[in-house]
Order: sequence, then C-alpha cells, then structure tokens
Amino acid sequence: MSGGGESHWLLTGGVGFIGYHVAEALLERGDRVTILDDFSESPYPTRYKRRNASHLYEVFPKVSVIEGSVTDAPHLRSLVAGKTGVIHLAGLAGVRPSFAAPARYAEVNVQGTANIFEAAMGAGIRNFVFASSSSVYGNSTPLPAREDAPCTEPESPYAATKRAAELLTKPLCALRPDARCIPLRFFTVYGPRQRPEMAITLFMRAVLGGEPVTLFGDGTMRRDFTHVTDITRGILAAADSPKLGWTPYNLGSGAPVTLEELVAGIEAVTGKKAVISRAGKPAGDVDATYACIEKARQDLAWQPRVKLVEGLATVRDWVLKYD
Ligand SMILES: NC(=O)c1ccc[n+]([C@@H]2O[C@H](COP(=O)([O-])OP(=O)(O)OC[C@H]3O[C@@H](n4cnc5c(N)ncnc54)[C@H](O)[C@@H]3O)[C@@H](O)[C@H]2O)c1
Repeated sequence: MSGGGESHWLLTGGVGFIGYHVAEALLERGDRVTILDDFSESPYPTRYKRRNASHLYEVFPKVSVIEGSVTDAPHLRSLVAGKTGVIHLAGLAGVRPSFAAPARYAEVNVQGTANIFEAAMGAGIRNFVFASSSSVYGNSTPLPAREDAPCTEPESPYAATKRAAELLTKPLCALRPDARCIPLRFFTVYGPRQRPEMAITLFMRAVLGGEPVTLFGDGTMRRDFTHVTDITRGILAAADSPKLGWTPYNLGSGAPVTLEELVAGIEAVTGKKAVISRAGKPAGDVDATYACIEKARQDLAWQPRVKLVEGLATVRDWVLKYD
C-alpha cells in the first residue's frame, strides 16, 4: 500500500485546508494525485479554494483537479478506477453551521462517504482513508479519548454525520478481508491556509488588527489543537500502512490547552495584547477535546511534532501574507 513514484491517489476535498497540504505532500514525494472537490461556498467562500488550486497548479503542473461532488454517485466509479487508494477528506466541516443545515451535512458527509466508499470497493480499490473527527466523542467520553470509547452521544449534527460515516463503512469493510478502511479522527487542526471561519484564524486576525477576540464560555473550554503538518504526516502514514481491516485512529497533539492559553500563545507570537470580549458557549461545542494518541504512535509510528507556539507562528505568517 506504500507510496513511491507509481502511486496514484484520488484525493477528495483536495483544495480545502487539510486537502491542500495532503496534495502537496503526496506530489512532493512523487506520487500522482487526482483531486475531486466541488469548490462549494460553504462553510467559507469558494475563492479560498480557487487560490489553493492555483497554488497547486503553479508548483505541480501535473496535478489533476476535477470539479465535482461526492454526492454525484454515477460519476465516481470512473474517478476511482486505477487508483492506489482513496483519501477522502471532502465534507462539510464545522459544528455550528451544521445546526442550520442538517440534511445537507448528512447528504455530503454520510451519503457522500457511502458513495465514494462503494465506488472504490466496486472498482477493486481496497485502500480507503477518510476524515472523521474528534467530535465523535462528545462530552460523555472519558478523557483522554481512546478510539475504543463508545461514541454514542454526538453533540451536533456534524458529529453525528461523522460517526454515521464511520459506522456505515465498518460492516462494509468487514465483508472484504483484503480491504482496509481507516477513519482518522482529527483534533482541531490549524496552520497555514486554515479555514477563515475557524477560531484560530479569527483570533489571530483580531489580535493583529487590534480588534476584540470573542471568547466563548468562561475561557476554560479546552482543545487539542493539532498542526496541519502533523495531521498530513498522519494521513500519509495511514494511507501507506499495510494493516487490513477497519481501524480508527486519533490524530491529535495529546496536549490540550484552554482558550485563554491559546490567546496567550497568540499574544506571544504577535507581541500584541488581546482585547477580550465574552459570549455564551454555542450549542454543539464540547467542553474539552483531548486525544489519546498511543494507537497511532504504535501502529503508524506517528507522533505530533509541532508545539503550539511554533504552530501559531506559521498561522501569523500566513495571515500577514495572504489574509
Ligand atoms: N479542520 C479541522 O479542524 C477538522 C477537524 C476534524 C475533522 N475535519 C474534517 O477534515 C476534512 C477536511 O477539513 P478542512 O478543515 O480541510 O475543511 P475544508 O472545508 O477546507 O475542506 C473540505 C473540502 O471538501 C470540499 N467539499 C465539500 N463538499 C463537497 C462535495 N459534496 N463534494 C466534493 N468536495 C466537497 C470543500 O470544497 C473543501 O475544499 C473534513 O471532512 C472535515 O470535516 C476537519
């Protein structure tokens, strides 16, 4: 299942935030990449995805970017044919917007995953890695969250769709002893090209511009922020792993911080004092995320490398240059 010059991946969601970095890493090591992305306007504007696509084309003219949707099942079979594997990152991200559009989230995140999984298996592709989320754990999971925790109480429609996609692929994968299907539970990912509506981007822009930073809740909410270069290495390690069967992995830093500590980190890398304004905790936001990363360490020889302050400096540089 390993990479190398002959590998050719179908990468869905490849002009999004995480997808861009995965495309770049695969192309840099000499693999071929076909991206499928619908360049949708939500949860953030299409122009960010167009910019990512043009940056990819500039550096890697051989990349193939196809504009289309994972909800368009008949189109998918021909796209997966002949690929080494599928790295499926396309999806509607974001907890809060999922409350306003649950049917659309279900269509893209659940049905879309079923479509692409079915197309892959139908075309004889046996290597399927996809984006799940730390949100599958909810508030009732003991922390640090382990992959074998029950995950029965999602706090948002988004979390429910991610868990549903996991549950749907598990029995289908079990039918095929030669197949592997790896849901990767990403813990709040940040870094250059980060989605513009995510907290770290908003906080960074606000502190740099002297605007107020809106902190939800009492500031003690904790997140296991994980740098996108660590997530990308984890995705490649999962895609290259020879292990068969259905196995979820946490990809997180394993070192959660409070939102107040996050703001202190942003102050440290910008040299500016944040002006804090407070707001109530939004529906769907969990109290804390905290990954147990032993399984990924052992099976994938993966571990996070980027410390929060180093990672925040990469966001600062990106925001100053491109935002
Ligand atoms: N960023 C995080 O902190 C985080 C955490 C946990 C899980 N995830 C998951 O990781 C994946 C990538 O997240 P991201 O932060 O890069 O988000 P993103 O929105 O930047 O990337 C998702 C990409 O999927 C594309 N897409 C959406 N609907 C599509 C459809 N119907 N067909 C084809 N493409 C479609 C979008 O245009 C976008 O380019 C998502 O599935 C997300 O739910 C992200």
